[in-house]
Formats: sequence, structure tokens, C-alpha cells
Amino acid sequence: MKKVLIATIKPFAPAAIEQMKALLDKVGYEMQLLEKYEDKQALLDAVKDVDALVVRSDKITKDVLDHAKNLKIVVRAGAGYDNIDLEAATAKDIVVMNTPGQNANAVAELVLGMMVMMARNKYNGKPGTELKEKTLGIHAYGNVGKNVARIAKGFDMNVVAHDPYVSSEIVERDGIKDYENVEDMYADAQYVSLHIPANEQTIKSINYDLLKRMPGNAVLINTARKEIIDEDDLLKIMEERPGFKYISDIAPDKKEEFEKRFADRIFFTPKKMGAQTAEANINAGVAAVTQIINFFENNDLTYKLN
Ligand code: 3PG
Repeated sequence: MKKVLIATIKPFAPAAIEQMKALLDKVGYEMQLLEKYEDKQALLDAVKDVDALVVRSDKITKDVLDHAKNLKIVVRAGAGYDNIDLEAATAKDIVVMNTPGQNANAVAELVLGMMVMMARNKYNGKPGTELKEKTLGIHAYGNVGKNVARIAKGFDMNVVAHDPYVSSEIVERDGIKDYENVEDMYADAQYVSLHIPANEQTIKSINYDLLKRMPGNAVLINTARKEIIDEDDLLKIMEERPGFKYISDIAPDKKEEFEKRFADRIFFTPKKMGAQTAEANINAGVAAVTQIINFFENNDLTYKLN
């Protein structure tokens, strides 16, 4: 009997767990659940004899993989896989997959929700501004970026995008101006929403040089990863520009400094909340176990990352 461990510090909604279990029961696989674990040892003990692992942002480092003697597949129920040591997995012949797109709408709704909140001065009673007819630059036009564009159009925003990996035809087909040059997009957009992954090329890539191109009343929205921001550069631009605002789904490393100096112009979620909806949990969780079943039963390698 195959054993599938669902290991999540930030648990899935109960409805998602129920549906995942039902799918695994149907094929006779055993589901094991490790939620809200506080230390790594709990994860190391739990992976010992499982065949498959489903995680969210949980860190799957080499030592976790070393402890998992029977492990054949890890599925990251979500998009970003910067939490998984792909090289170590490949060296041990462990397949790693993600579930792209499954939580994209949830993240996109949070982007617009936080933009409205900041435009209304975090609901402090003072007059704010509207999103209508403002320019929103989408930095990376993938699954989340596309959903942000769709919703922002409903607000009558002027939506533009930059993505070196997506062709202009695809962006323009959605009625969105495509910028070949990232600096040009930042110069034209009052709002910029970040949807790039965290990797060697992108870490700290949102820096002073880029941010200084934005207009005076700029709002930067980050529902991607905190690591892509050069925090010292962002602090510098916020010091120089009294109108610059920063919204992030998860606090930066220098949270206290941002809060001390720019309290009115920042908002940080206490935990990464983008994908935290019942719908997104069900979509990503069900996709993850379906991919595991198809991997074992049909050797299906769709969404393999390594
Ligand atoms: C993702 O990469 O899919 C999102 O950042 C969601 O991450 P989470 O599953 O940890 O909420």
C-alpha cells in the first residue's frame, strides 16, 4: 500500500483534506497528515517510510530527502518551488512537481483587495483614491498575472505587462499593452504587481534602479516572494518619496524598520495569505494527489520540475 504524507505547517482547509483523502482511499493509498509541525524533527520522523509527499511552502531540504528512504515523488501544492532542493531530489531520483495555476485566482483576488485597502488609506476615515483609470503594471504574465489583469480590468484600470518569457501576442490578445523593456513599464505604472519567482536571477532584482523609475505616488504590490525585493533599496526609495507605498503578502525581513519609519504607507500580511482560501486549497490539494496517483498508476510526469 502506497503511503502519502501531507506535511503542511500552514494546513489546508478541512474540505481540501477530505477530498484528498477520498481520492487516495479510492485507489487504496494511505494518507498520513502532519499539520502545524513546530520543529524539523517532526517532519524528519514523518517522512521516514512514505512513498509520496505533498507540501506547501514547507522547506524540503537535502536532509529531509535523506530521511525519506522510500520517497519517489514530492508535489508542491502551489506554484513556487523555491522551498524544495531540486538538485538533491534529482540526485536521489525523486520526482518533484508543482500544481501551476491552481491557486492563481486566490492570489489575484488578494492583490486587488490589498490595493483597494491601501487606496482607501487602510480605512482610516480620510479620503482616499480610486483604482479606476490608474495604470497597473503586471511584472510577469503567468497564471497569477493573468488573473490580476482580468480582475483589474473590471475596475477599469489601464493594465500593462512585462514578461520576457511570454510572447507579445499572448499579452496583446488579452488587450494588454506589452512592454519589452521592464524599466519602461515601471516608468509608466503607478501600481506594479510582482509575479516573478524567487531564483538566482530574481533575488533582490526589485531594486533602487528599477523603483526610482516609478511615479511619485507609486504603489508596489508583492504577492510573490520577499526575497525578490532589495529591502535596503526599498527603504531608501520610501525615504526619498513620501508618496511611495508598499504592500506585501508576508512581511519583509526588515519589518520593524518599515513599520517604525513608514507605518501609514505599508501593509504586510502576518502569514502568506495569497493561496489561503478553501477553493485554492481544494484546487491545489486535489491536483497534488491526482498527480501522485497518475504518477504511480500511469507513469504520468506532467508538471515534473526536475
Ligand atoms: C505559491 O507559490 O503557490 C503561493 O505562494 C502559495 O504558497 P502557500 O501554499 O505556502 O500558501
